[in-house]
Amino acid sequence: MRRIMGMMVALALCGLGMGAAYAEDGAALFKSKGCPMCHGAGKKGGDLKSSTLDKAAMVKYIKDPKAANPKATMPAVKGSDAELNAIADYVKTMK
Ligand code: HEC
Repeated sequence: MRRIMGMMVALALCGLGMGAAYAEDGAALFKSKGCPMCHGAGKKGGDLKSSTLDKAAMVKYIKDPKAANPKATMPAVKGSDAELNAIADYVKTMK
C-alpha cells in the first residue's frame, strides 16, 4: 500500500513537472518565433493579454492569420502543432 501511494505521489509530481515545462517551452518559443517583435504594450500587434481568442482560435490565428481574419497583416508563423499549442498555452497564462 505504501508503495502504491509513493508511486501515485511520484506520478502526480511528474505531471506537475511536465505542466511547468510545457509553459516554459511556450515562453521560449514565443521569443524564438519572434512574437515579441510585434506583440507587447505599444507594439503594432498589440498586447496579447487583451486577446479574447480561446486557445483553439489562437492556434489557428498563429498558423494562418488570413484565414482567421481576412484583414490580418500578421505573417503566418511556421511551427509544429505541438509548438503552436505550447505558444497558445503560454499566451493564455500572460493574463
Ligand atoms: C510581424 C509582426 C508580427 C509577428 C512577428 C507576430 N504577430 Fe501576431 N499580430 C500582428 C498584428 C499586426 C496583429 C493584429 C491583427 C492582424 O493584423 O493580423 C496580430 C494579431 C495576433 C493575434 C490575434 C489577437 C487578437 O485580437 O485576439 C494573436 C493571437 C497573435 N497575433 C499571436 C502571435 C504570436 C503567438 C506570434 C508569435 C508566434 C505572433 N503573433 C507574431 C503582428 C505580428
